[in-house]
Amino acid sequence: EEKFITLAIETSCDDTAVALLGGARKVLADSISSQIDSHSAYGGVVPELASRMHQEAMLPLLESALAQAGVKNPREELGLIAVTAGPGLIGSLMVGVMTAKALSQGWGVPLLGVNHLEGHIFANAASEELVPPFISLIVSGGHTEVVLARAFGDYELLGTTRDDAAGEAYDKISKVLGLGYPGGPVIDRLAASGDAYAFDLPVPLASTREIEFSFSGLKTAAMTLIEKESERGAPPVADICASFQRAVVESLLKKITLAVKTTGVKRLTVSGGVAANSALRAALEKYSAEKSIELFLPPRKMCTDNAVMIAAAGYNSYMRGNLSDLRLTPNPSWSI
Ligand code: KG4
Ligand code: ZN
Repeated sequence: EEKFITLAIETSCDDTAVALLGGARKVLADSISSQIDSHSAYGGVVPELASRMHQEAMLPLLESALAQAGVKNPREELGLIAVTAGPGLIGSLMVGVMTAKALSQGWGVPLLGVNHLEGHIFANAASEELVPPFISLIVSGGHTEVVLARAFGDYELLGTTRDDAAGEAYDKISKVLGLGYPGGPVIDRLAASGDAYAFDLPVPLASTREIEFSFSGLKTAAMTLIEKESERGAPPVADICASFQRAVVESLLKKITLAVKTTGVKRLTVSGGVAANSALRAALEKYSAEKSIELFLPPRKMCTDNAVMIAAAGYNSYMRGNLSDLRLTPNPSWSI
């Protein structure tokens, strides 16, 4: 099966990514061109800029990925072209989808549009053998979703956020603290040397019996705290980061616990940029060990946006009989 090569393209947000995968798991090429430096000056992703940069990066990235994988004759060697068709920024998605359609048409290789969230779920399957059913937490800059995967392709959305995504809250707090974009990695690092109980920030929706998240109230509380502390002098940044992070992690863990309880499914996967967070990873490992839950934590590199996960999802979906044609169009709000 490793002889079946999938070429995948991911452009849903601010990373241009191309990967080649042999079969379900053999990574032949994994190329990413990050736009972080260009967006960080604005404190977040500027959609118009993102589309333009995808367009510039795409063909050189494709060429180098094909070379890295040793693919000389794509028409003969590729089995599938998988591309993220949503959810994401429309202008960004369009660059990937149009490129994939052109290549599919030019090379005569089958085309498949992949859901970005299903891609994140496959970040785990691309790393090691993963068998459904399982519960998947997808936490990134755009998503906070708890999904029940009964089988590959058979997903139920158990819960999501009422407002901001978890990563979005990290990014906004970082911006207010003047720590730049993206906020997750820097807050994660600073929190390590702070006191998580220095400030009593509220754990969002802690007492509801629903699988749901809300990070907007926590964000406002943290911003008010930062303002107050700044008036008194230099704010204790590490303590603020640690206290904020504790509230986020507690909220995620509470609702994951609820999902495990209500479904009875004791296999758990996590992905998305926030899954790279040290405190969240530690909390999940502790919880899983205590409750005998099988935990799949992909390597940090696989947590953030990449094309390997899109290739893995695309390959699995194609083998289940799914296929797109040239009418494929991006769907910015495609749900799982
Ligand atoms: O999955 P991703 O690369 O892109 C989206 O699909 O959004 O996730 C990026 C998000 C950003 O909000 C970033 O701040 C957050 O993931 N992030 C983290 C960490 N690394 C990245 N959040 C918390 N801790 C981290 N270590
Ligand atoms: Zn993502």
